[in-house]
This record gives sequence, structure tokens and C-alpha cells, in this order.
Amino acid sequence: MEGVMFLSFYKAKIGVVGATGEVGRTILKVLEERRYDFFELRLFASKKSAGKTLKYRGKNYIVEELTEDSMKEGFDFLLFSAGRSVSKKFASIAAKHGSTVIDNSSAFRMDEKVPLVVPEINSNVLNGYNGIIANPNCSTIQMVLVLNPILRNFGIRRVVVTTLQAVSGSGHKGIVELEEELKDESYEPRIYSKRIANNCLPHIGDILENGFSEEEMKMVNETRKIMECDCDVEATTVRVPVIYGHSESVYVEVEKEASLKEIEEVLSKAQDVKVWKDYPTPIEVKGSDESHVGRIRVSHDGRAILFWNVADNVRVGAATNAVRILEKLLNN
Ligand SMILES: NC(=O)c1ccc[n+]([C@@H]2O[C@H](COP(=O)([O-])OP(=O)(O)OC[C@H]3O[C@@H](n4cnc5c(N)ncnc54)[C@H](OP(=O)(O)O)[C@@H]3O)[C@@H](O)[C@H]2O)c1
Repeated sequence: MEGVMFLSFYKAKIGVVGATGEVGRTILKVLEERRYDFFELRLFASKKSAGKTLKYRGKNYIVEELTEDSMKEGFDFLLFSAGRSVSKKFASIAAKHGSTVIDNSSAFRMDEKVPLVVPEINSNVLNGYNGIIANPNCSTIQMVLVLNPILRNFGIRRVVVTTLQAVSGSGHKGIVELEEELKDESYEPRIYSKRIANNCLPHIGDILENGFSEEEMKMVNETRKIMECDCDVEATTVRVPVIYGHSESVYVEVEKEASLKEIEEVLSKAQDVKVWKDYPTPIEVKGSDESHVGRIRVSHDGRAILFWNVADNVRVGAATNAVRILEKLLNN
């Protein structure tokens, strides 16, 4: 298994910002599974969490309030998952004071000077780089892990994707909203625009002037940036009442004709991709660090590939990708 080789003590000073959240806690879990020990580990969250303790490798760590002063201290690496506005302010301060930041928010993803990294695809952009590194959007990461080998072998003209995204993608409050609505039919939605329990909402992020949602445009722009591909991408993103695991129905028009056997062969060799004989489901992939693919089909003329893709959004879509970036940097 990936990571078992890392039993390392790193003379690195590491900070996790947003340590009490869905992604922050999972970052700690993934690091712990890979048995990392660091010279110094610091955990940050909002004022309300200051003084709480979180465990890492059997030891209690006290959560600190995130402050400008703490970000000026200088860290070897800071992993941020506390939302866009927190990153905009504090990651910028940290980077200015010499820290390398791996940021899970959307704050810097489309900044031309900031690398947007899925290590299996473009870790080369990290060579010699210091500063802010952006982790892509969760629904994009799981899809590009499958699309990139298709692009490299068959070329891609156009991608049409519909997502079915879990409530944990909205952070812990998304899980609470679904659970409360399931218990109480009169519970008023607080974070979603309509009830999510026993429902589907084709509305993730604000709807923009062009009619697409913010989440849909993230999938379009980030896919093209990560794969350095000018293919067309069209997305419809849907929130569904699932706690963990995003599913995606993907249609890909290819440049070079492909048979089902050829595609299965290419995907079965792809890094951190698992091909299923039938199909993966969110419940089955919870806790996995791979992007799972099933129901692969080829159109009658061999020019389009259709597949079903599922991954643990908090791990593959955020925490594990961030830790994989950190591993690349630690081992550089
Ligand atoms: N969940 C996913 O699947 C996913 C995937 C990809 C990217 N992301 C991104 O990752 C980030 C975090 O998501 P999440 O799901 O972990 O959210 P979450 O469960 O709501 O956790 C948010 C974290 O941010 C902290 N925080 C909030 N305001 C803060 C402030 N002013 N100063 C310091 N810390 C603050 C919270 O601390 P308190 O506990 O003290 O409030 C908590 O630790 C977001 O940018 C999100 O878009 C999430």
C-alpha cells in the first residue's frame, strides 16, 4: 500500500489550518496512516475551537486560534482547509513569510502563477517551486485521474459530466443539515437552497450570469488547467443526500478511435485508479484513496467513451491529494 514505506521522522515544521473540519481531520488521519512524525506539528482553527485537543499518533495536540502572528512565524509546510476567505488572507501572509502552503480552497486555483496540482498528473510543476500550491476541487480531482490517461492515449475533444455530490463536500455543516432534515420534516434548510433529505439539488455554489454554477465552472476551468488541455468541458453538478462519496457520469469524445478492451487496459494501468467489473458506489469506496471506475462503454463508432466514476470526496478530493503533494515536496 502507498505510504507504508514512509516511516519517517521529518525535520519539518508543519501546520494544519482548519484542523477541526472534515478535511483537516482527514488530513491528520491520512498522515497518521502513513506514519509520519514531524519535528513540530501545529493545529489551527477558529477562535471557537482554541484550546480543544486533537490526537495525532497517540499524542494530544492543542488547537490554536489562527492569527496573523502565527502565520508570520515561518513553517516548512502549511496545509490549509479553512475556506476561501481564510486562505486569501492567512495563506498569503504565510507565503510572504517563507512558508510553503498547500491550499484546499478555491482562493488561488485559477491564479496563473499558482500551480494547481494532482500529483499523479502534474507533479513536475512543483520542481523548484515555493509559495502557494492549490489543491483542485473535489469533483475535478477524481475525474481527471481517469481522464488524463484517456487524454494521453486517445486524445480528448469534449467531456460532458454530470455529478452526484455528497453533502460532506459542503463541510461538516452539510452532514448536519442532511441528518437534521432526515429526523425532522419541518427543519428549515440553512445551507442549501432547498431540502436535501430525499431530494436532489442541481445547484452547487452560486449560479453565474452564463447560467452555469460556480462548481460547474470549477470543473471546466480546473480540468483544462491541470491536464494542460484545451478540450471542451461541460458540467452539471448536483447535490444528493449521500454523506460521503461523489459519483459522476462522464461522456468523453476522443480523437482516436478506441475499443473497450484498449480503454480498460489503459485505465487498469493508471495510477490510483481502480477499474470495476460492475460498478463502484459511494458506500463501497468510503475510506479509499483511489478513483473508482465502472460501467465503461464505447459508442457505436468508437469515438466516445462513457463511464461511471466514484471517489471518497474528502480523501481523494481533498486530504489525500494534499498529503500526496506534501510527500512530493518532502521527498524532492
Ligand atoms: N469537504 C470536502 O469534500 C472538500 C473537498 C475539497 C475541498 N474542500 C475545501 O476545504 C475547505 C474546508 O472544508 P471542510 O469540508 O473541511 O469544511 P468544515 O468541515 O466546515 O471545516 C472548516 C474548518 O475551517 C475552520 N475555520 C473556519 N473559519 C475559520 C477562521 N476564521 N479561522 C480559522 N479557521 C477557520 C473551522 O474551524 P472551527 O471548527 O473552529 O469552526 C474548521 O476547522 C473549504 O475551502 C472547502 O471548499 C472541501
